[in-house]
Amino acid sequence: MRLDKYLASCTVMTRREIKKELRKNPAVVGGLKVSAPETQVDVKSVVYFLGEKMEYHEFTYILMNKPAGYVCTNREGRNPTVFTLLDERYQKMNLFTVGRLDKDTTGLLIITNDGDLSHKMMHANKHVEKTYYVTCDRPIPSYAADAFAEGVDIGDDKPTRPAKLMLSDELPCEGYLTISEGRFHQVKRMMEAVGCTVVKLYRVSVGDFNLHNGPQPGKYREFNEEEMEIAEKYKNQ
Ligand code: URA
Repeated sequence: MRLDKYLASCTVMTRREIKKELRKNPAVVGGLKVSAPETQVDVKSVVYFLGEKMEYHEFTYILMNKPAGYVCTNREGRNPTVFTLLDERYQKMNLFTVGRLDKDTTGLLIITNDGDLSHKMMHANKHVEKTYYVTCDRPIPSYAADAFAEGVDIGDDKPTRPAKLMLSDELPCEGYLTISEGRFHQVKRMMEAVGCTVVKLYRVSVGDFNLHNGPQPGKYREFNEEEMEIAEKYKNQ
């Protein structure tokens, strides 16, 4: 890999900044000073740059608390994408979202360039649970919990897989819904099937990932150690 690319993936600097810096402060690759940005570097080499030992990671993992108003596509269109919220250096990494949230849905979104993790979490036969906090336009009927536990017809070939609905006594229009599929507009269509329209949708968790120690609404950060272990667990499944 080119030295400037390698250093950009290990630091918060852009390739342009790195090229400029290298002229003044060469990197040390395997004990040798190197200032040419195009120098090929083995990712297993011991590299020092600006007095620090570089830690190379093959993949990038981001936990975002998605704000409303952004779409989860890589294609540019009418609406801003979640990728436009990311720092410039992430925008050059070919990242994608693990599953999709609607433009108006908020909450937990994983963004990565690790196709294996995405596959392990999103493949239809993996049945990874996703929990949403749902706010509807009217009280959610009490029979909805049983209906969702059985599976409901939302106009597809098959009814939905069993899902869990937890209702609250104090807030009759709100509840937690846990599904183990990822059909198009699934939560909204399930709520429509019991006569309710979703007015707000917030994703609380995906599998063992949650937002308890997560970024504030509208913010993002790279996975912490615990989340890296969770990712490894899914990848080994
Ligand atoms: N279900 C929906 O209807 N929308 C989402 O964004 C996610 C799940």
